[in-house]
Amino acid sequence: MAGLFISFEGIDGAGKSTHIHALAAALRASGCEVTQTREPGGTPLAEQLRTLVLNDPMDAMTEALLVFAARRDHIQRVIAPALARGEVVLCDRFTDATFAYQGGGREFDWDTLSELERWVQSEPGTAERARGTRLLQPDLTFWFDLPADVAAKRLAGARVPDKFEAQPQAFFEKVAWGYAKRLAFDAKRFARIDANQSPELVWLDVLQAMRDRALLP
Ligand code: TYD
Repeated sequence: MAGLFISFEGIDGAGKSTHIHALAAALRASGCEVTQTREPGGTPLAEQLRTLVLNDPMDAMTEALLVFAARRDHIQRVIAPALARGEVVLCDRFTDATFAYQGGGREFDWDTLSELERWVQSEPGTAERARGTRLLQPDLTFWFDLPADVAAKRLAGARVPDKFEAQPQAFFEKVAWGYAKRLAFDAKRFARIDANQSPELVWLDVLQAMRDRALLP
């Protein structure tokens, strides 16, 4: 599959959204076709699942199954076709968020998440699914790393919190642990960005990470 797949991760309040928009603009200015999307969401079905996941109380397994169902629809209808057209896909969160939030934050079984990842991110009807190889993964993942106490101060009073944003700081410490574990597992895929700086400095780090990988002139 051609194209370039970039995901953006971090705990709530880490400030990734601004930089996704800025990077989309920079890539378009350099002549790239860009598909900008998000998870859970990105298709009509997945956006309906997002509303449920972000608002309705449910156990961690139900949450994991719903975000992976949303992801399956999103991959098939949006991500895989855009990559096949050679586009750059910028995705606000992807599977690392499931490991971080459901695996870390909600302490759902990591191996089961890996199994779901293998099912959902392998190409349908191929032997890869059985072997668990060649999964669709981002080529690059920006992890906006911010201490949970700083994020909590940023989020306080910012807007009406959804189910996750309303969680205590201890929850986000576990989410951050989940991200760190994913990074340790596949470090070369990640660009860790120190999000505890001004937006201007964070943006310079994002640009530098793209240039280091020859992804932006
Ligand atoms: P977020 O990406 O922060 O969007 P917004 O900026 O509009 O609030 O919200 C998505 C929330 O969903 C976030 O709290 C993390 C959570 N989430 C999971 O729990 N599991 C997942 O697999 C994904 C993709 C997100």
